[in-house]
Amino acid sequence: MKILAIDTSCDETSAAITEGRKVLSNVIYSQVLIHKKWGGVVPSLAKRAHEERIDFIIAEALKKYRRDRTPEVKEEQGDGRTSGVKKWREIDCIAVTQGPGLAIALEVGIIKAKELAKKYNKKLIAVNHMEGHIYSSFVQNSHGNPKRDFEFPYLALLISGGHTEIVLFNDHLKYEILGATIDDAAGEALDKAAKMLGLGYPGGAVIERLADEVGNKDFYHFPRPMLKSNNLNFSFSGLKTSFYYFLKRSVKSPIVTSEVTEHIRELTSSFQEAVFDTLIFKTEKAMKKTGISRLVIGGGVIANLYLRRKLKKLVKKHNGSVLFPSYKYLTGDNAAMIGVVAHYKAEKRLFVKNIDELDRVPRWSLDKLY
Ligand code: KG4
Ligand code: ZN
Repeated sequence: MKILAIDTSCDETSAAITEGRKVLSNVIYSQVLIHKKWGGVVPSLAKRAHEERIDFIIAEALKKYRRDRTPEVKEEQGDGRTSGVKKWREIDCIAVTQGPGLAIALEVGIIKAKELAKKYNKKLIAVNHMEGHIYSSFVQNSHGNPKRDFEFPYLALLISGGHTEIVLFNDHLKYEILGATIDDAAGEALDKAAKMLGLGYPGGAVIERLADEVGNKDFYHFPRPMLKSNNLNFSFSGLKTSFYYFLKRSVKSPIVTSEVTEHIRELTSSFQEAVFDTLIFKTEKAMKKTGISRLVIGGGVIANLYLRRKLKKLVKKHNGSVLFPSYKYLTGDNAAMIGVVAHYKAEKRLFVKNIDELDRVPRWSLDKLY
């Protein structure tokens, strides 16, 4: 079954063609340059950019898949109108991210998916974006690599710009949230620290690069929030505040100011360490609590290679295993992971019953899906 998947949940416009767990094409247009100068995602700009690109991105996903898989039908691509019908014949259903995400951004993908489902008479599947991140470690290329079988249950650690969650992934489409952030997400903390240092948006990757150059994570000890609490929740806003006051103190004292600029690598490294230590600590706690030592990790922050090393060390200590999205473009937002979830929903015939009634769900917990 071939699925056309669409994701417009935040600041990436993405469309993919998937078949089972295989990605036949995955096109992502990142709006980072649009939002960069504002230091964060501006919803109205995101909506407009999605609207401007969505047709092109979907056409590219169809075209790329054609080019890669069936070169003999290449000539069909010239005329959008007549070739369109032929292209669409091979698509069995359409999947779209329904939430969570920015309401007016989600809406663009949903409206488009509804329009196409009606026009080409396809079934529609609505997917939760965080389910996509959970499944991203199982997404395969068109040759079926990496060959990973599911070995339930897993602990899924989801770390993105909007979410930080530990989820019990019991079976296909079966989730239970064990812990989540009560304020900022891990990626958000990195982004905010980077912003305070004038390093631009998004900050996670810049911080990784700077931290990697020196790696003196012990330069300054920032607090590791909520380590003493008995639950599996996270909190990163206190850490952000403590970083803010550290910088503020520094600005008052010229000696420390120069220390900030001179030691920006050590500072980013120390801050990053505080965020990652917290993630590792709570993940280990969840492993001990549940007795599950198989991890799957999803979300933009797992692009970070240093964090990957830390997680590998953690599972080694517990004789466990950890899976990451195998390709870098699968760590951030993409439609391929949405298509793969849709495959498992299609197997259970979880299609949208009334297409006209499908609406965005900007806040949509994994606990409340089925
Ligand atoms: O999953 P994602 O692309 O979008 C959301 O759904 O939020 O995650 C974006 C987050 C941002 O906070 C960004 O700073 C972070 O992922 N990120 C990183 C790295 N690359 C992206 N964080 C740490 N290290 C990286 N290399
Ligand atoms: Zn995401």
